Amino acid sequence: MARRIAFLNYKGGVGKTSLVINLACCLAQQGARVLLCDLDTQSNASIWLLRLERWNRIISGEDGAGTTFRLFQPNPPPISDLIMRDVVQDRDGRPILPGLDIIPTGFNLVDLESDYIGQPGRPAYVHFREELAKVEGDYDFVLFDCPPNVLRASQCGVFSAHDIYVPANPDALSLIGFTLLAEKLAAFQDFSAGFRRHSFGPVAQIQGIIFNAIKGNTDVEVPKMRMQLRLNQFKTTRRVARSAKIFAARVRDATVVRRAVTLGLPVPLVSSESGADADGIVGDYHAVARELHQHTLTLPS
Ligand SMILES: Nc1ncnc2c1ncn2[C@@H]1O[C@H](COP(=O)(O)OP(=O)(O)OP(=O)(O)O)[C@@H](O)[C@H]1O
Ligand SMILES: [Mg+2]
Repeated sequence: MARRIAFLNYKGGVGKTSLVINLACCLAQQGARVLLCDLDTQSNASIWLLRLERWNRIISGEDGAGTTFRLFQPNPPPISDLIMRDVVQDRDGRPILPGLDIIPTGFNLVDLESDYIGQPGRPAYVHFREELAKVEGDYDFVLFDCPPNVLRASQCGVFSAHDIYVPANPDALSLIGFTLLAEKLAAFQDFSAGFRRHSFGPVAQIQGIIFNAIKGNTDVEVPKMRMQLRLNQFKTTRRVARSAKIFAARVRDATVVRRAVTLGLPVPLVSSESGADADGIVGDYHAVARELHQHTLTLPS
């Protein structure tokens, strides 16, 4: 069965999308079948992996069945039709990363927040969870790239996930974002509890913090200690899982991440193309992916 994981922090720009994309790539390279669900209306993950031209064809409906929001519109296609298989391609359109699929999004996902009515007593996140159940058996991991909030699109990921991991930068703002996230999540888990059926699986808990974009001259020990203190407090008040931890593996700051976005490739594929393991960051992503995989194996299914 797929392990379903949401990446979330109330702080924007901490590296949620870049972690999801590069971890998805590493997991696929390590042999896993991975489905990435883009739940952020900014569409960063979709544009990154599809590149602008292909993404434009998808959102205009010229190519494929459409994007996430179609699931919430009248006469939706089967969710399997929204999946773009082996999404990463080279410049000639050849698939170069078997095992990484995506359900892309467009900017219209924002309409879920205001225009979606749905059926009475059946919130969007229940509908999404039921749809996802139809395809998750094909995967080892389903990863949700969430926006920096717990509004409707994000709720779809949170409600569907086994686990929540929190990308963070080693600074005070990430700590505030994490604190706010824990509060907002608790509120969402409370009001969505009545809609949870046994078949949906257990309520997702925060299982870890992953430090990202660490600059060479940054001392992470102090921010790490502050984060650990907050994590310990939240364990006592059950806002995070008892098994929650700060990852030993972390991702350094490297310009190749920004270059990868421009090239429309996950970082490990940029480096292999150019023959350079830029700043060792590919190793960082692989180490985080291995630690993530190992950690999920120790958690209840
Ligand atoms: N390890 C890294 N080294 C250098 N730059 C990075 C790294 N990780 C992320 N970035 C850059 O930081 C910026 C924010 O990253 P990203 O979009 O992944 O964050 P996010 O948390 O998903 O943002 P949002 O909250 O808007 O969704 C991007 O420009 C990205 O290229
Ligand atoms: Mg993002």
